[in-house]
Amino acid sequence: MNVHKQKIEEAEQSIAAVENEVSQNYWRLHYHLTPPAYWMNDPNGFSFYKGEYHLFYQHHPFSAEWGPMYWGHFKSSDLAAWERLPIALAPSEDYDKDGCFSGSAIEKDGKLYLMYTGNVWTGNNYDEQLKQVQALAQSEDGVTFEKLADNPVIAEAPAGNIHPFHFRDPKVWKYQDFYYTVLGSKTKQNTGQVLLYRSADLLKWEFVNVMAKGEGNFGFMWECPDLFLLDGQDVLVMSPQGVKPEGHLYHNLHQAGYVLGKLNYETGTYTHGPFHLLDYGFDFYAPQTTIDDKGRRILIAWMDMWESEMPTQNHNWAGAMTIPRIVTLKDNQLISKPAPEIEKLRKNEVSYQHVTIEGETSLEGISGDCLELELTIHAKNASQFGLKVRVSEEDKQETVLTYHKKEQLFIFDRSQSGEGPGGERKADVKLNDNELTLHIFIDKSSLEVFINEGEKVMTGRIYPSQKAVGITFFSDESIDIINFKKWHLEKSIK
Ligand code: FRU
Repeated sequence: MNVHKQKIEEAEQSIAAVENEVSQNYWRLHYHLTPPAYWMNDPNGFSFYKGEYHLFYQHHPFSAEWGPMYWGHFKSSDLAAWERLPIALAPSEDYDKDGCFSGSAIEKDGKLYLMYTGNVWTGNNYDEQLKQVQALAQSEDGVTFEKLADNPVIAEAPAGNIHPFHFRDPKVWKYQDFYYTVLGSKTKQNTGQVLLYRSADLLKWEFVNVMAKGEGNFGFMWECPDLFLLDGQDVLVMSPQGVKPEGHLYHNLHQAGYVLGKLNYETGTYTHGPFHLLDYGFDFYAPQTTIDDKGRRILIAWMDMWESEMPTQNHNWAGAMTIPRIVTLKDNQLISKPAPEIEKLRKNEVSYQHVTIEGETSLEGISGDCLELELTIHAKNASQFGLKVRVSEEDKQETVLTYHKKEQLFIFDRSQSGEGPGGERKADVKLNDNELTLHIFIDKSSLEVFINEGEKVMTGRIYPSQKAVGITFFSDESIDIINFKKWHLEKSIK
């Protein structure tokens, strides 16, 4: 057996030994992808291949901490029900021996190719003593992957003001007769940037240009770039590390967002507008997109944050993905909406119309820890209103979502959510005709709030107790909940 296969087998055995016990943990998510055990970070290789969605992920199959990276693997025929497949990549070669870092997938001649970063530590200082190269693996069946003998296909970073070693996360796509990839990079003075490469065959790559570079407060390194065409705009998504807080923005350790612009494929120059966040919550990083047979641009992100306390590590697992989100353009902004297929998981609908709230109240039949909620609120003369989820009076827990009319702010407060990190995050939100629309996804240890039809999204991990299933509505003056719907959502992973 070759070393790669052997390493995958050892990793699968390591998972199998604890998987059952891990599955008992209360915080395991029911309709979000999580590793079967141990560590998960970035989504990788998100693709639509032979009629199915494939999602790979950065995986450490030997502990609940980050370590030498493998690629875990899920697939789905409908974005709602997912199946775990065997680990796809293991660090097995000289050029990737300390990790198969992030990358992407593309179909060519009927095969599924994974393009990823091989990482090697050259000393103990992981910031400076590393060597990163780009490599390929191929598969005939979308399940078993073989690394190419020609690897690495990009053996070193280009000359110029480009850091020679921080050079990673290829996202590949096809445009006319060529394949292109963007790569995360930084200058020698620690400014984040994105590199553009071109290839006729995926094997020989030519450096085109430094496509985009941070200016001002845009961080010391850009990770996980992604470029795609949407309604005539070239959208560049990236994850800048080290952006400093500005007002109520950028309070997470690292950010994930996008700019809109136009790429000149000949020169590799990209002119673009301002940076916007893709999510205003606590836990959202390294998003990756794909396009499916319906022409939809679908985005999934890691629903966690680096160097954030993760209470599930005590239960031998860490990391989750957001639900798949469909991104579209409206008024020069990206709009994110939950993939409609998730509706297939709905059970036990309860609905209300025109409920007047003043003070704080609960509604009969509305509670739970694995739910989808949809509501439209008419604010009337209220200045502060919202809802609390995952409430337990006994355990003094609540997660609070409040709209402040005067400041035009929506606030997600997890300071009393239970275990794990607290704090609050704020997003600028305007009412439409004095109405606020919320679409909320509650899973055992997560919360995603889509505000005003996906204009803003706020995502966070929370770690409440099992008793914390209450939901209450509150307002300082009378509001009208015009429409309210609740569903229980079923498990999505086989
Ligand atoms: C982003 C990242 C990538 C890297 C991977 C390693 O979260 O740091 O840049 O490829 O994670 O796991």
